[in-house]
Amino acid sequence: MAEPLLQVERLVKTFPVAGRRGARLHAVDDVSLTIAPGESLGLVGESGCGKSTLVRLLARLLDPSEGRIVFDGQDLAGIPATAFAGRPERARIQMVFQDPTDSLNPRFTARDTIAEPLKLLARLQDAAVEARVQEVAHQVGLPAELLSRFPHQLSGGQKARVGIARALAVQPRLLILDEPTAALDVSVQAVVLQLLDRLRRELDLAVLFVSHDLNVVRLLTDRVAVMYLGKLVEVGPSESVFRAPRHPYTQALVSAIPGQGPRIKLSGEVTSPIDPPAHACRFHGRCPRGEDRCAREAPLLVPRGAAHAAACHFALQDPGWPILAPDDPRGTATADPVAGRASFGA
Ligand SMILES: Nc1ncnc2c1ncn2[C@@H]1O[C@H](COP(=O)(O)OP(=O)(O)OP(=O)(O)O)[C@@H](O)[C@H]1O
Ligand code: SF4
Ligand SMILES: [Mg+2]
Repeated sequence: MAEPLLQVERLVKTFPVAGRRGARLHAVDDVSLTIAPGESLGLVGESGCGKSTLVRLLARLLDPSEGRIVFDGQDLAGIPATAFAGRPERARIQMVFQDPTDSLNPRFTARDTIAEPLKLLARLQDAAVEARVQEVAHQVGLPAELLSRFPHQLSGGQKARVGIARALAVQPRLLILDEPTAALDVSVQAVVLQLLDRLRRELDLAVLFVSHDLNVVRLLTDRVAVMYLGKLVEVGPSESVFRAPRHPYTQALVSAIPGQGPRIKLSGEVTSPIDPPAHACRFHGRCPRGEDRCAREAPLLVPRGAAHAAACHFALQDPGWPILAPDDPRGTATADPVAGRASFGA
């Protein structure tokens, strides 16, 4: 495996709980992962499991409680998020947000929006800024005549292209996409996803892609990480995780993809993220496979390079469900990432 571009080690983010002195909500708990240059990593898991908190930590919009975020050999975790905004490293890690309407300044034209990071981070002069704005607008398929429009004069798809152009303008090496198409009409989603996929290949970008759409993740990513209640519970090559999920939670997620066989319905109590028991599996109580040991001993995720790993005491004994033959059509994601999508927990 190539030297990682991003290496995250034992990252933790807890929040205080209003009205409960000393209590902490564990949004991200002891997460370690890597992303190689040019690699696309999907991040999936049900609503509230900590995906956005994790990616906001990695984009250095939030300060971690503990852990290391080593990007290109430099630990960024100690730089306060407020200071990071103006640092040159900011250009290397860029983020595209879920809702282009919320994330665009209503008083900025598309040109102003795309130019802002070029002035702030790349410190380019006016003529060079304009040349780069034109170039990146062309790259994302935004017609030059739309550059003088304000967000309310643009369609959802056009606003999404402005957000992508702004992120790409400063030539990042890692692009973080937090549900980048969730706010768009279904017909526009496929177009924007195809654009993102083309750009990442052309520009050799590493991508961290958060989505509720499992088929989209399967189609667009090299590896996938599955999160449950602040913990990473499974990580591995996307084809392997989707074809033979090892963690009982991932097995339930994958079973929700249409045509994947019988759907595993989860029941039981979801563990509270507020000071959860340190010595129990977070999935215990909801896990169809759980045993007494799971209430006493928390399983560890020990990822080794690009290998497939799961945090379950029984992951290696029970190699996974549903295991499909390589030529079984049920194991093939649909060619249309939107028409065939499966979503969960939204
Ligand atoms: N600023 C904050 N203060 C307190 N709790 C927070 C804060 N931000 C997030 N949380 C909590 O952290 C947990 C993880 O939230 P997060 O938004 O990261 O989940 P998510 O996986 O992105 O969910 P979704 O799929 O709905 O976007 C949740 O319990 C949430 O309520
Ligand atoms: S460790 Fe136990 S409770 Fe946790 S996922 Fe595995 S079987 Fe289920
Ligand atoms: Mg989120």
